[in-house]
Amino acid sequence: MIYLNGRYLPIEEATLPVLDRGFIFGDGVYEVVPVYSRVPFRLDEHLTRLENSLAAVRIANPHTRAEWREIMQKVIGAQPFDDQSVYCQVTRGVARRDHSFPKDVTPTVFMMVNPLVTPTAEQIEHGAAAVSAVDYRWLRCDVKTTSLVANCMLRQLSTEAGAAETILFRDGQLTEASASNVFIVWGGTIQSPPKSNLILPGITYDVVVDLAHANGMPIEFRDIPEGEVRAADEIWITSASREVLPIVTLDGKRVGDGRPGPVFRRMHHLYQEFKHKVMRAGGRQPAAA
Ligand code: PDD
Repeated sequence: MIYLNGRYLPIEEATLPVLDRGFIFGDGVYEVVPVYSRVPFRLDEHLTRLENSLAAVRIANPHTRAEWREIMQKVIGAQPFDDQSVYCQVTRGVARRDHSFPKDVTPTVFMMVNPLVTPTAEQIEHGAAAVSAVDYRWLRCDVKTTSLVANCMLRQLSTEAGAAETILFRDGQLTEASASNVFIVWGGTIQSPPKSNLILPGITYDVVVDLAHANGMPIEFRDIPEGEVRAADEIWITSASREVLPIVTLDGKRVGDGRPGPVFRRMHHLYQEFKHKVMRAGGRQPAAA
């Protein structure tokens, strides 16, 4: 069962007018919320980012937080599986095609759920491959918009290379990856680019940062030149579904010794532990991170 504009219905029965600006212009924003044992993970943070994305593209938020929570709980409750990935999209709505914003238009709200697919035990044990590319996306990568053709083209490069992700460099500096954030480990210190208009402020990124701080793991935010990424001891990618995933080859060359590193192992353990704490707390934020 999915949610579309006030109705709960099977996805096969959900249809939209072709003039929806999401279809015509990619004029919309979205969120992907991981759900463990039917408990949404960091829901407040996801709703805050949704509010920020809506404000950035000037779509009026069609729902209060309480309403968003209620819709989400209803679609989560209707699924036959426990670990879920909730996809939530808001577009500017349906209007005659004109680039300028239409007046008096009602946003389209869509929510669907897929089974959550997290990294396999094999990927955690042995790591994954990545390729790299020039980050040719726009200058508002901090907005989680559905205009994702650049991200799709960049992700496809890794798919065709049999790799898990495409790591991006803009003007010779690390930004993020096609659908995830990137961390490196250098001399025992976890490092990542600072938040800016050039990267999505990842919810998983924040969890990793909180866990590092709470557990005394050195962490630093700075612009990271491409050469330092290639020479790093460890590279990780993070996202709602990837959680924290070690990258062991970049463009076919080994990262560090070609195996998931010790700092990754510790962070992965902390992340899994934190996840279970959140589940036991019914989604409320436990103190540790
Ligand atoms: N993508 N950067 C980009 C470009 C992303 O698309 C994503 C997530 C992230 C990580 O954000 P988070 O930790 O909040 O998932 C970073 C989602 C999962 C997607 O588009 O499916």
